[in-house]
Amino acid sequence: SNAAPPAGASLRKPKSWAGQLRVVQIVRETPTVLTFRLADPAADRLPFDFLPGQFLQVEVESEDGKAARRSYTIASSPTQRAYVELTVKREEQGVVSRHLHDKVSAGDLLKVSGPFGAFTFTGTDAQSIVLIAGGVGITPMMSVLRYLADTAWDGDIFFFYGARSTEEFVFRDEIERLERRFANLHVIAAMQRSPGTVWMGPEGPITREMILAAVPEIASRRIHMCGPPAMMGAMRTILAELGVPEAQVHTEAFGPASLPADASDLEVKPAPSPAQRPPPGSEVAPSTVTFSVSGVSAALPAEETVLEAAEGAGVEIPYACRVGQCGVCVVKLLEGEVTMAVETGLAPSDKEQGYVLACQAKGTGTPLVVEA
Ligand code: FES
Repeated sequence: SNAAPPAGASLRKPKSWAGQLRVVQIVRETPTVLTFRLADPAADRLPFDFLPGQFLQVEVESEDGKAARRSYTIASSPTQRAYVELTVKREEQGVVSRHLHDKVSAGDLLKVSGPFGAFTFTGTDAQSIVLIAGGVGITPMMSVLRYLADTAWDGDIFFFYGARSTEEFVFRDEIERLERRFANLHVIAAMQRSPGTVWMGPEGPITREMILAAVPEIASRRIHMCGPPAMMGAMRTILAELGVPEAQVHTEAFGPASLPADASDLEVKPAPSPAQRPPPGSEVAPSTVTFSVSGVSAALPAEETVLEAAEGAGVEIPYACRVGQCGVCVVKLLEGEVTMAVETGLAPSDKEQGYVLACQAKGTGTPLVVEA
């Protein structure tokens, strides 16, 4: 059935899935942004669960025959069980976004894995929420907004949106409709320029004054941000000036996925050959890693990561960047201890719950058990 889960249903981390979904509809949102509606080709229900704010990874074959992967935040709400929607901006330099825009039509199958990501909000983690988005960085916020509206969440929602022009205001109609229907939703949109268009709102960037005027007691609220780097930087400064503790500011960990400017495709890096790996660290004893789901164990030399050991043992752990940035390779560590050189892609809350980045995790001499 398509029944909605209760408000703030569960904080359980949904299991990730990989397979093919069918493009059932393509909707043009703006001159450069399309929404792809994806559904299970064989069932009337999605084959996975997700939380508002999570993303999927799409893999396409580029012109030179190589696989190219790119992550896109899910814009639809998890209350919609029949399909997911990915809202994608066409980037001139983006192999995957150009393929999606230029080559894919309704009826096609897409290779998808996910959901991934810890940039989520379900209404259970705070009494109110401030969402700040720029450009196509609106997609994770849209999933949150739609979910909170569908579940009649009664906290205050302050939604700031900055776009270059009204033409590029993604989801404008829907946001205006939601604002009319939900008294607890406060929308503040600012357009960089709006010549020749009907725009009664503020022009220019989102400012300190706009935030101060719209949000009482900003310093006590939870903030979610997603947008181009320049905007995120400016907002961080403003929020710090307004006394918002950094721990309350959550940003899209997988930033480039949703950025309107300078977004380049995540290149799928080939697994390095053993010869390219750094020489063995002398202090850490070699150990073993057991993959609990696959029921496979493998040797784990000191210089090898859990991801490399998994690949050697034929256990599939999804990855993209291999350098600790994207968070795609996150797995749960059930036993043992690891070290990680880079943890940028790991949300602190996930780390607390025992998740590690497989591309970074190296053994410390004791046997590991990993959920994969
Ligand atoms: S593959 Fe990107 S963080 Fe591990």
